[in-house]
Amino acid sequence: MKILVTGGTGYIGSHTVVELQAKGFDVIIVDDLSNSHITVLDKIEEISSIRPEFEQFNLADVTKTKEFFNRHHNIMGIIHFAAHKAVGESVENPLMYYQNNIFSLINIMQNMKDKNIQNLVFSSSCTVYGQPAELPVSENSPIQKALSPYGNTKQIAEDIIQDTCKAYDTNAVMLRYFNPIGAHKSALIGELPLGVPNNLVPFITQTAIGIRKQLSVFGDNYNTADGTAIRDYIHVVDLAQAHVVAIDRMVNKKQKKKVEIFNLGTGNGFSVLEVIRSFEKVSGEKLNYKIVNRREGDVEQVYADTKFANDELGWKAKKTLDNMMESAWNWELALKEKI
Ligand code: WQD
Repeated sequence: MKILVTGGTGYIGSHTVVELQAKGFDVIIVDDLSNSHITVLDKIEEISSIRPEFEQFNLADVTKTKEFFNRHHNIMGIIHFAAHKAVGESVENPLMYYQNNIFSLINIMQNMKDKNIQNLVFSSSCTVYGQPAELPVSENSPIQKALSPYGNTKQIAEDIIQDTCKAYDTNAVMLRYFNPIGAHKSALIGELPLGVPNNLVPFITQTAIGIRKQLSVFGDNYNTADGTAIRDYIHVVDLAQAHVVAIDRMVNKKQKKKVEIFNLGTGNGFSVLEVIRSFEKVSGEKLNYKIVNRREGDVEQVYADTKFANDELGWKAKKTLDNMMESAWNWELALKEKI
């Protein structure tokens, strides 16, 4: 069974390709390499001994996308990661986000309809919940107005998928990620932020390794135990394995509804300071950080109600925060070795 993984040389995409191959799926990757590197293919092959097929183009390009699907007839399903995903960048350049993230999805779904490809796993995000009124947040929690164009592209995409699956013979599983962190145990693949990291964990490891001078902790006056904001951090390998369960569910016709939505988190919330303490414990490094003002758009706390994914998918995140931070640090150390 051939599975198309769009954005498959990216952070979550590459980890998902490795897990798909481990389960015997044949993978083809489409990626425009705008936020990843072609050498990730070598690393995937080094891990799995199988080099995935690869084509480089942007899925917002109607002609190239149509031409691709005209050449590949045995695609059983699509896992769609390819999108821009930096919240801050989306505020500065909203049109680039709407054009890329929405047009690529439309092109994929148009070709699914035309070529009768019925199975789509979509990479969504907990950002659709905004600051939930109640915690933990379940899949039925109300969607709140997006705080950024990036978050809005996820909400719009979910609506497009719902409407398309209602009208045509297409099914979808939409996976709402919480905060993916960490790296594969081989330290051959991991998060490769271009430029200054937006996200907490790569900023922590880059500070500890000496690339960044100091971590700024965005606010310690939230209404939480230690005043810093709380998130549901999930190991990227746990997240990747959930995608394999989802596509397997679809190709084996186990879905109970044409569109199913699952929260992918651990159900545990950790504060920024708790993440820092975990890092210091597993690395033996003392982290240089300072408390600064809150970051615009941040929510105070969000963590997942994972019951539906646990019960319905038979999937549960297994790795602890210490495992996640240790794998993130090993990855940063491996990156340093390469230089
Ligand atoms: C985590 C916590 C920050 C950096 C983002 C995306 C979201 C999703 C997950 C894709 C927050 C604090 C951060 C720093 C800090 N991605 N922080 N200093 O914002 O929860 O979510 O990743 O779907 O769409 O928005 O993740 O890692 O940026 O922040 O104190 O230098 O760490 O305030 O409390 P976030 P993050």
